[in-house]
This record gives sequence, structure tokens and C-alpha cells, in this order.
Amino acid sequence: MSFPKDFLWGGAVAANQSEGAYNVDGKGLSSADMLPAAKHGVARTATDKIEKDLFYPYQEAIDFYHHYKEDIKLFAEMGFKSFRTSINWTRIFPTGMEETPNEAGLQFYEDLFSECKKYNIEPIVTLSHYDTPYYLVEHYNGWAGRELVDLFAKYSETVFSRYKNLVKYWLTFNEINCMGILPYVAGGVKHSNKQIQAQAAHHQFVASAKAVKIGHEINPDFQIGMMLADLLTYPYSCNPNDVLESLHKTHDYYFYSDVQCRGYYPSYQLKKYEKENIKIVMEPEDEKILLEGKVDFLALSYYMSITAAADKTVGEVADGGNLMDRGLKNPYLESNDWGWQIDPVGLRISLNYLYDRYQIPLMIVENGLGAYDKIEEDGSIQDDYRINYLTQHITEMEKAINEDGVDLIAYTPWGCIDIVSAGTGEMEKRYGFIYVDRNNIGEGTLKRMKKKSFDWYKNVIQNNGL
Ligand code: BG6
Repeated sequence: MSFPKDFLWGGAVAANQSEGAYNVDGKGLSSADMLPAAKHGVARTATDKIEKDLFYPYQEAIDFYHHYKEDIKLFAEMGFKSFRTSINWTRIFPTGMEETPNEAGLQFYEDLFSECKKYNIEPIVTLSHYDTPYYLVEHYNGWAGRELVDLFAKYSETVFSRYKNLVKYWLTFNEINCMGILPYVAGGVKHSNKQIQAQAAHHQFVASAKAVKIGHEINPDFQIGMMLADLLTYPYSCNPNDVLESLHKTHDYYFYSDVQCRGYYPSYQLKKYEKENIKIVMEPEDEKILLEGKVDFLALSYYMSITAAADKTVGEVADGGNLMDRGLKNPYLESNDWGWQIDPVGLRISLNYLYDRYQIPLMIVENGLGAYDKIEEDGSIQDDYRINYLTQHITEMEKAINEDGVDLIAYTPWGCIDIVSAGTGEMEKRYGFIYVDRNNIGEGTLKRMKKKSFDWYKNVIQNNGL
């Protein structure tokens, strides 16, 4: 069992779920700052203004903004070769509309990426991870507005130029196919329906393609990827109608990677829009931009799989957390405490499907087990369940590489240090190798502690996956 020599082992977080410091050093309000906490089984909602009596967990999160040196040192101790995070657009352009960028924000990320480089950790940077300047949400209904295309291009150009010697790997939009699943999330859209979502997706496709072109002009060595939430959907049975249903569900998310990897809208989606009477407003140059701005690689998140049945009365709906649309339970799989079905072989299947389809390098930039962790009397955290989950997934990755020939180049498990959950806003849904002392209502010292998985992952990296 071996992984490629330069395999990018690492970990991942996102700015909005980790940094906190939401109103520090000139940062503007982002859509993420307007999301109060919810909990398992209770959908997240957004508020129009910050309400005094509500708790907004992202506003302080784990205060990575002030702890990043300590945290990166711990990542380096584990031997990380890469670290995925995102840039918070509102640190650079507080409303999204400014003529000149906010120097304090630019400096923060310069310091952060330099700190990574100090330890030979390669930053993998997402330009937009579930946050949009709130000003743009209010004034343009987020990505429903065409205006955001050029505002995003300007933001991209600013950060590409500033970090052209610090960052090589970029992702444009996190989980672009989760458009509209949580309030304001991928699309930053406040008022939504199918037509608006489709238009917002189009704007993100064009913005992403423009960013790819701009990035390659600034530094031809840049590798710029798209990011897909992999929603592996099996047929509920071998009834051909279930197989067809699972194909349709699969098209719902492959549509996004098809556009970004192939550079044009797939025929099945054009037919679907026609049937649903959805009309996309396109500028004359859009088709050319999409074709010229194809991505260099595909990054995916993978947590679970679901099943789909044609007959809407059969099966039991899986508790899909933040991602799934009426996926059914699979009797062969177990679930975590949030109902996410654990399926390591599904990861191998997904990697094969994606690589067969696009033949470009793949990165797994999110994977992991959200779980409740307990601090023992001796202060240790025995997270064998997490080690077990990750071992099984790494084992399947290795088979995908060595038995199936998939070109997989990176693995950055999600929430390598505990952060706030996107789906629920809980802090106690933990993924990390590093525990952060903070609870669901914002209490705690923010102290960092190594879990048992810390040394385990260090060993995995040291032995290149052995
Ligand atoms: C992905 C997102 O959907 O899943 C992350 O890109 C998110 O932002 C992760 O945190 C895990 O989901 P959750 O709801 O457990 O935080």
C-alpha cells in the first residue's frame, strides 16, 4: 500500500467556520455572520440584522484569526504537506464594492500563507466558501445578481496578484452544487426559487471561469480547481426505475462539475430547464468564457452516500444533514450521530466515476466523521471511532489509486482542528485531530488539545499512508 511520493496529506477548514474576528481590522459583514446557531434536526435560518438575543457561532468561532500560528505549528507537527482554508471576501472588500482592497485583510492572509510556507505546508485556498459580502446579499440578492461576476473577478484578481508566489492551488466556489440548500450558503441568495438558483449558478460558473483565466494569466503555474459536494446516490433496488431515479439525482450534482470541467452546459440539464420552464439569461460572451475557463482539477467533499427510489412511498428518508435531498437509508450502512451514512467503499466508487468522467486530477478536500468527543479524567480524548472512519476511507483511496488508476493528488480531512459546523452551527459536532475547548453556546477557553487521532494521523503521513 503506497501513495504517490508528493501526495498532499493535510487538513481543511473554512474562514467563516474558524476565524471568528468577524468585525476586526476592517472586515465587513458576510452572509455567514448572519446565521444564528441551530442544532441537529433544527434547520438553520438567517436573520436580516444581528439580533442581540441570538448566538451567532461564526462571529467568534475558534478565533483562528488570532490563534493561527499556534494551530499551524500543530499541523506542522502532524507533518501536514497541505492546508486548505478559504479567504473571507469581506476581509479584502468589506462590502464587495470598494475600489481599493483593505490592506489589513490582505496582510492577514499573507501572514497566514507565509506561516504555512515556513513549515513547507502548501496552502489550498478557496475563494468563496459559503460566505458572500452581506451588502451584496442585500443589494443584489447575492449571486442572483450579474453584478457579482465582475466584483468576484476583481476580488480574485486582487488575491491572485497578492499571493502569486505563496499559493499555487486554488478552488473557486466551495460545494457549488449546494446552491440554495442552507440560507445564503453557496449562492448567497436571500430570496430563492428554482429560476433564481439556476441564474445564480450561471453567474458563479461565469465568475469561476473568469477567475481561472485571470489566475492563469497572473501565474501560469497556478492550479485552479472546482469543488463539488459528492452526493453519491445508489439505486434503492435493481428495479430499472430506481436506477433511472438515481441517474437523475446524480445528474443534479454532476451538472455543476460538467459545466466547470467540460466548459459547457450538458444536454440533460438544458432539457431539464426547458421542461421546468427555467430560462437562463446569458451574455453573448458567456459560452466562450465557460469554455476558456475550464478548471485544472476537481476537488470534492465526501462524507456519505444515499439511495434513491422512483416510488416516493418506499424506504425511510436518511437524515442527510446539510446536504441531501430526500436520500433514502441504505440497510447495508451505519450512520453517525447526525444520521450521515458511513460508506468508505462509496468513496472509491465516487473517485472512479469522477475520474472516468473528466480525466483530470482529483483532490479530496473534505472527508471525516462529525462526532461528540469526551475528555477523559486523565485529559485524553480517545477518538478511536474517528481513527476507524478515516482508516477505512484512506484504505479505499489507496485502492482507487493503485488498483483503479485514479489520479488522486491530495487528502485534506475536514475540520482538522474542531470548528463550527456548517449544517447546524454546533461546536460539539467535532471532526478534528485537535480539540478546541468551546461548546455550543460559546463557552470555553479556546484551549487546543491533541486527541488520540493526532498521533495516529501523524504516523499515517510519516509513512505516506502505510
Ligand atoms: C461541507 C462544507 O458541506 O460539509 C463544510 O463544505 C461543512 O463547510 C462540512 O462544515 C461538514 O458539514 P457539517 O454540517 O458537519 O459542518
